[in-house]
Amino acid sequence: MEMIKASGLKKYYVTDNYEVHALDGVSLSVEEGEFLAIIGTSGSGKTTLLQILGGLDEPTAGGVWIRGNSLKDMTEDERTIFRRRNIGFVFQQYNLIPVINVYENIVLPLRLDGAEIDEKLLEDIVRTLKIGEKLENLPEELSGGQQQRVAIARALMVKPAVLLCDEPTGNLDSVTSMEVISLLKTCAARFHQTVIVVTHQEAIAQMADRILRVEDGKLYNAEV
Ligand SMILES: Nc1ncnc2c1ncn2[C@@H]1O[C@H](COP(=O)(O)OP(=O)(O)OP(=O)(O)O)[C@@H](O)[C@H]1O
Ligand SMILES: [Mg+2]
Repeated sequence: MEMIKASGLKKYYVTDNYEVHALDGVSLSVEEGEFLAIIGTSGSGKTTLLQILGGLDEPTAGGVWIRGNSLKDMTEDERTIFRRRNIGFVFQQYNLIPVINVYENIVLPLRLDGAEIDEKLLEDIVRTLKIGEKLENLPEELSGGQQQRVAIARALMVKPAVLLCDEPTGNLDSVTSMEVISLLKTCAARFHQTVIVVTHQEAIAQMADRILRVEDGKLYNAEV
């Protein structure tokens, strides 16, 4: 089954002084359960693409369908709820809430949705991500890599149908990176998730089912 469909996506930033074609006609189909890697140089449009696929940003032209649901045909409120229930993000910046501890950060999306907390799953996830000792700490008391792993735990806990990860291991050493991607794959298989990972790390891209490359706002099949 097709989980993510994008058709003719364009994202143009236009001001008096310049015009940037961050996305310039991107179409894409991702099957349920697929683990897709997206590579590409800095500024090529990867983050823009992920944000639009996840309904965080609107394209200048084109559309996105998640499991057949058209994002642009939803109201802002509908899209927010749809996103919270179906789409998980791991951002380039971790976007942790500074004033609540690690545990509360991890379960925040579930609390917002009034959903139950699967403590067994949480234990599994934080053990694998090696942040089990840090649950009582505030985000600022963690290293960058640890904060990144908290953001990954938060995304996994929702068991979203679609998981969009923007350089989820950008701050981790190569061994930990591979462990984290293995965990993502294990969770994805267990919960039938569709995963897109933007990465600069070739070894990580190689762990994906398929690799695409963004170049100047266009999408290409990639062989690494
Ligand atoms: N809000 C904005 N206003 C104007 N231009 C923007 C805006 N956001 C992104 N861009 C431009 O769009 C292009 C694509 O940016 P994007 O963040 O998608 O790149 P990226 O591939 O994720 O890069 P990186 O690997 O450095 O994260 C860049 O040229 C960037 O400068
Ligand atoms: Mg980016």
